[in-house]
Amino acid sequence: MTTIATSTRTRVVIVGGGPAGLMVSHLLHLAGLDSVVLDNRTARTIETTHRAGILERDSVRLLADTGVDRVLTAGHRHAGISLRFAGLSHRIDFEGLTGASCWLYPQTDVFADLHRTRHRDGADLRYGISATEVHDVRDAPRVRYTDGEGRRHEITADLVVGADGSRSVCRDLVDGATRYFREYPFAWFGVLVEAPPSAPELVYARSERGFALISQRTASIQRMYFQCDPGEDPQDWSDDRVWAELQCRLAGEDGLRLREGPVLERTVLPFRSFVQAPMRHGRLLLAGDAAHTVPPTGAKGLNLALADARILAETIEAALAGDDLSALARYTDRALARVWKAQHFSYWLTTMLHRTPGASAFDEQRQLAELHTVVASPSGARYLAEGYTGWPEP
Ligand code: DHB
Repeated sequence: MTTIATSTRTRVVIVGGGPAGLMVSHLLHLAGLDSVVLDNRTARTIETTHRAGILERDSVRLLADTGVDRVLTAGHRHAGISLRFAGLSHRIDFEGLTGASCWLYPQTDVFADLHRTRHRDGADLRYGISATEVHDVRDAPRVRYTDGEGRRHEITADLVVGADGSRSVCRDLVDGATRYFREYPFAWFGVLVEAPPSAPELVYARSERGFALISQRTASIQRMYFQCDPGEDPQDWSDDRVWAELQCRLAGEDGLRLREGPVLERTVLPFRSFVQAPMRHGRLLLAGDAAHTVPPTGAKGLNLALADARILAETIEAALAGDDLSALARYTDRALARVWKAQHFSYWLTTMLHRTPGASAFDEQRQLAELHTVVASPSGARYLAEGYTGWPEP
């Protein structure tokens, strides 16, 4: 029999210490509830894995209102984006259409801010662990794991939060769940480049060669993506080939040229839509990518994770304060209402801007007409702006 080196009792054990798990832990702490956070990655690995960089209005509000406010000084408020097609850019004025903006602030910074805040507040954070096992989520949750020295530890808690990302082990513990999937016949090639910004706001471009996205990071580092084949090998792409492809997809009669520089990093990003329902089973509750994945177009992933964390922390507070676990039953419906809106939005923006292999001439003309309609109609543009900046919770 394995010996257990330590046994810890807490209110909530959180499996997964990315932004979703840390935000739940942070909000529970503000409500006076203890938690322990576990993750098999190191904090350094999470902090250096590049992810998306756009925060909705309410994500920024949640961070700032709970004291994680570096985004307000180090982030960049963006009042709109450009939709580019048929060689011309069309600005979607979020601020003018909805009164809301979004913020360019990388997920790696959100993680670092939350991690620093939890550390400052004395949180029990255990990164770099392995062999995590979650037991008895119906009645008496118990999580066991192995630390860096090979010793086994146990944590018992009232509740388990599964915030363990797209390869979640917690999601498999939800008996009888329904899984909704959609695959896409393409992926994204993401690059981090050393170059000055090429545009003041994000440019979402549809071209004959496929989609491209121009995003930013700092005065000297930029983030860009282009649609590629899912089987693409990043090593087959020299700097010159990357730039030629991007320039070609952005070219137009206005003479737009991207400012070039060394490609610092290249990755092929997976691309799919996924939802698992319900998001709760007994004393286990799922948050973020553990329960749902969106395609990257529109950068909804982190925003959904933060929205889940907020709803989840409120639900847990209500359940533990009143010692009434029936309060947990409301979590799935509240969280999924937003998740499905974001699923639709990400799917819509994806299909409006990407080239589908085998698309007919009719499909292509219809797609262009959709883009022309969205940019020419204030109602169409507002629909996009509302989705992009995030729907207020009813
Ligand atoms: C970024 C990523 C996205 O998927 C998106 O829609 C917008 C921006 C980014 O990494 O900056």
